[in-house]
Amino acid sequence: MTFDTPITIALSKGRIFKQTLPLLAHAGIEPLDDPETSRKLILDTNHPQVKLVIIRASDVPTYVQWGAADIGVAGKDVLLEHGGDGLYEPLDLKIACCALWVAGQPGADLKRRRLRIATKYVRSAQQHFAAKGQQVEIIKLYGSMELAPIVGLSDLIVDLVESGNTLKANGLVKLEHICDISSRLVVNKASWKMKHGTVIQVLEALREAVEN
Ligand code: PRP
Repeated sequence: MTFDTPITIALSKGRIFKQTLPLLAHAGIEPLDDPETSRKLILDTNHPQVKLVIIRASDVPTYVQWGAADIGVAGKDVLLEHGGDGLYEPLDLKIACCALWVAGQPGADLKRRRLRIATKYVRSAQQHFAAKGQQVEIIKLYGSMELAPIVGLSDLIVDLVESGNTLKANGLVKLEHICDISSRLVVNKASWKMKHGTVIQVLEALREAVEN
């Protein structure tokens, strides 16, 4: 496959990078470096026209929105927090699948007034409880949310659950399902117009890889 215009793809290290690699390979795109061993933030690929930028998962929508990358791969959790301004989300890559849950100690009272919710996912948590007409206090954390109800920082948490092992190890249980999460392809709206041919080539190759 050849590409008419240069294109930059934003990815985060770890799970998303590992699970996106086979999909990119299907589009004929292979990075020349491994971000797990290299400190490089811009990776060349076997295509001189295609570069990968390696950034924090929560920064992917921002890089794509501002045009620093044409395309990105971001978790739906991150996109819900970002709000999706300036982005198209044309493809569910069906990788890094998990779900956003309200969790807490077994028997926790979900109906109590002014529940305190610890979470990294402030916007999703606010929307979830607002939709139920419930007033809550949100405490923003950046990780290890499971600790909060154990030490009395919060009544409940809103967090991603995959295997459920982290909740279990900390004596917590799933209480309310908020939504399913997977990684999505996002495209900058300007790139969608200006680099349409190349964006569509990559998009369709990835779509084929997801469907097969
Ligand atoms: C995520 C999430 C949970 C855990 C869930 O954390 O926040 O803590 O994974 O996975 P499990 O159900 O398979 O145990 P992550 O490891 O991404 O780190 P974080 O706490 O910094 O968000």
